[in-house]
Amino acid sequence: MSEKPVINYGLEGIYVDESAISKVDGQNGKLWYRGYSIENLAEQSNFEEISYLLLNGNLPTNNQYEEFVEKLKERRDLPKEVKEVIKVMAPVSHPMDVMRTATSMLVMYDKDPNNRESGATMYKVVTLLAKLPTIAAATGRFREGKDYISPDHSLGHSANFLYMLTGKKPNEFESKLIDLMFILHAEHSTNASTFSVLVTASTLADVYSATTSGIGTLKGSLHGGADEAALNMMNAIGDPNNTEKYIEEALEGKQRIMGFGHRVYKTYDPRAKLVRSYLEESLTKEPLDEVKRLLQIVLRAEKLMIDKLGKTKGIWPNIDFFAGPLYRVLGIDSQMFTPIFVASRMAGWGSHVVEYWHNNKLVRPVEWYTGSIDLPYVPMNKR
Ligand code: CMC
Repeated sequence: MSEKPVINYGLEGIYVDESAISKVDGQNGKLWYRGYSIENLAEQSNFEEISYLLLNGNLPTNNQYEEFVEKLKERRDLPKEVKEVIKVMAPVSHPMDVMRTATSMLVMYDKDPNNRESGATMYKVVTLLAKLPTIAAATGRFREGKDYISPDHSLGHSANFLYMLTGKKPNEFESKLIDLMFILHAEHSTNASTFSVLVTASTLADVYSATTSGIGTLKGSLHGGADEAALNMMNAIGDPNNTEKYIEEALEGKQRIMGFGHRVYKTYDPRAKLVRSYLEESLTKEPLDEVKRLLQIVLRAEKLMIDKLGKTKGIWPNIDFFAGPLYRVLGIDSQMFTPIFVASRMAGWGSHVVEYWHNNKLVRPVEWYTGSIDLPYVPMNKR
């Protein structure tokens, strides 16, 4: 019997590849997309430009930008059958389940789905990037029994999403908020869903299959689903005066506080800082009572958690802690939070597939077997 190897549960600390797409500095709370700091991109860029940057490796010239934006606009609308399936599923299934199914259907409209040449891959990725917000918005509309809203080509990518979801054209501040969320969720190195996308891509399956894997993985509450779970927790807290008691009791009961902790960040998540600052700015713009209440809970929970676990165990707020309250500023329902994450993360997933296929290697780790061997087979009538 050979000796048990060191097992890195959850692949913690394991390097699986090289990548030039993004860097997460977990000790210092920094994030760069293709070398540009997330703070600069969040303040000065927009989702279309950062998608181009992630996918191509460089900031676009004016012509490249216009061409890219046009491609996204042209491909925003959904085929009739996809809308029909969303309409059937949305009233009964979680929006993430609807997203996963509708995204998988898009393969039907690709005449050459298994083509992995770089131009063909890029075409598929940009098509998914264009359509995922529409799938999300249609899901949000149909689950409330409302009509589908066609894309509006006068609006930018994320503002159009918000319009298709709410039926109201966003003002400048609202457009900035939704675009911020799209930018901040676009890419984050080899997180669980991106890894899942790459595992599927590594078998030489198609981009639609890889994306569908990513959506399934993002759904879980330890990953993308934490945004919805964190807001549910805030609603369970209810009264801000209940915050400390609720959290103390949850920690005593060994529960996770959603929106805190990260495998890589052992300090404040830089994306969380940005969302927090915009959330505070929203208070200067006649906020809803609900948002004021949520922000009080957020600030009290943040203080308690940092005092208790931040300084001792490196458990700090992550982006998902502030995402929900910010989406509530925009009137977005909690079950729609993670679908927005999907629509945005498509930029990162697609960039990783493009990069990975330049030097593809099947992902196939090993496990240490702890079961029996050579058991005698007993026929069924003798068991
Ligand atoms: N609340 C309370 N305790 C926590 C939390 C938390 N949110 N996160 C970690 N811990 C504790 C955990 O109980 C464990 O304690 P002990 O050593 O006493 O057993 C210790 O910290 C280490 O936890 P771990 O689960 O081994 O660490 P991990 O690196 O696997 O955890 C995590 C990462 C994100 C799964 C975890 O922090 C967590 O469950 N957070 C809540 C869910 C969440 O907010 N997820 C979103 C992550 S950011 C956005 C994204 O990538 O999707």
